[in-house]
Amino acid sequence: MTNGEGKPREQFSSKIGVILAAAGSAVGLGNIWKFPYEAGENGGGAFIVIYIFSILLIGFPIMISEFVIGRKSRANPVGAFKKLAPKTPWFFTGIIGVATAFMILSFYGVVAGWTLEYIYLALGNTFKGQTTADLQNTFDNFASNPIKPVFWQILFMCFTAWVVHAGIKNGIERITKILMPLLLLIIIVLCIKSLSLGENIDTTTGEVIGSSLDGLKFLFKPDFSAINAGMVLDALGHAFFSLSLGMGTIITYGSYVRKTNILTNTALEVTILDTLIALLAGVAIFPAVFYFNVAPDKGPSLVFTILPSIFQEMSGGYIWTLSFFVLLAVAALTSSISLLEVAVSYFSEELKINRNKATVYTTVIITVLGIACSLSLSSWSGFEVLGLNIFEIMEYASSNVMLPLGGLLISVFVGWYYRRNDFVDELSNGGTLKIKFFHLFFFIIKFIAPVAIAAIFLYSTGLLKFD
Ligand code: PHE
Repeated sequence: MTNGEGKPREQFSSKIGVILAAAGSAVGLGNIWKFPYEAGENGGGAFIVIYIFSILLIGFPIMISEFVIGRKSRANPVGAFKKLAPKTPWFFTGIIGVATAFMILSFYGVVAGWTLEYIYLALGNTFKGQTTADLQNTFDNFASNPIKPVFWQILFMCFTAWVVHAGIKNGIERITKILMPLLLLIIIVLCIKSLSLGENIDTTTGEVIGSSLDGLKFLFKPDFSAINAGMVLDALGHAFFSLSLGMGTIITYGSYVRKTNILTNTALEVTILDTLIALLAGVAIFPAVFYFNVAPDKGPSLVFTILPSIFQEMSGGYIWTLSFFVLLAVAALTSSISLLEVAVSYFSEELKINRNKATVYTTVIITVLGIACSLSLSSWSGFEVLGLNIFEIMEYASSNVMLPLGGLLISVFVGWYYRRNDFVDELSNGGTLKIKFFHLFFFIIKFIAPVAIAAIFLYSTGLLKFD
């Protein structure tokens, strides 16, 4: 397989490189920004239970499937289906994936841009002395400014394009190898600090303002009465979003994986790491949310107000805040490059546009869409469809419609269309590995995953009702 310029297809150079790149794609704003606010808006514990079920029952088997499809075909998501299912409409699954990459990266670039502003603010020590209410104002003023967020978003998209242009080994692999472990470390430190906040007592009145323990209860004591169809769809959609599934990212990365790599292990490691980091982010944030007595359902501004509040309580707050936002920006970057890579590999391999040009074109289109998302929070906020602004439409439609739809198609493809023996052959590295629990896996991918996704989808849109 060659790329648009006829060079051989690149490969990841090492096993750890694959894991870190795929984990780099999975771990990002989804874990640290989106997961806490989704959990906060959906009542905490019950959301988390359904999210974890979605990961185990649907996400993990689909991740294995995407890796197999990618490595077997050695192609971009559209080319992959063309190769494995020639002369059929299955390649539409890939087209949907490429379209989803455009949608996700448009709002993702905006939020990633926010992290750059926060690095800048942290550098100037702006958060010092700000109360949680001040921090909320800082965020609101910034997000509703029409110029600044757009400036940072464009800058971030330039970084993304630059790394993607540098290619797999030099760009993506090198950067993730160094910075991912650092991010994990800093989140653990944050968890410890957040948990040790204890009770917040008003010094003048002696009243208890809040307690970090309540945050833990909110996270881990599920209130099952909070479950409803919309929330289940949110949790399912978020499982896809967080694991980078349902749009061909893992197919694309899988296409660069060596034939000797053990795909089931890689998928397991990535899934565990991603889930762990989301839960740790929850443990870092919610105890502090309750300690400072802030509403947990604040939405997208949650981490941007709570985390600087925790850092203020820490000695060396300046350096912690700064390092955190730098690492968050890097985590966003390792995810955004995987999104852009899906589009670029499609344009260069299928439409035969040279890779550099493909990178520039796709980046420009996505950035323009992103500017619309950003402005929909300021000057264009009056424009709404079904009560959602452009930013929210992109976010909702990609996570709650496009990714589950992609996941559904992938599970049907593997379970019902693709030859089982070919699948087993690729998964077992040509029969050299013994695959445990294959029957269980296959049963899930053939029946459970598609039925569950379809049912959740139909039920939450009101097309299906249980009484
Ligand atoms: N998983 C990424 C995150 O959690 C976002 C992403 C979604 C990346 C889909 C690629 C594909 O931030």
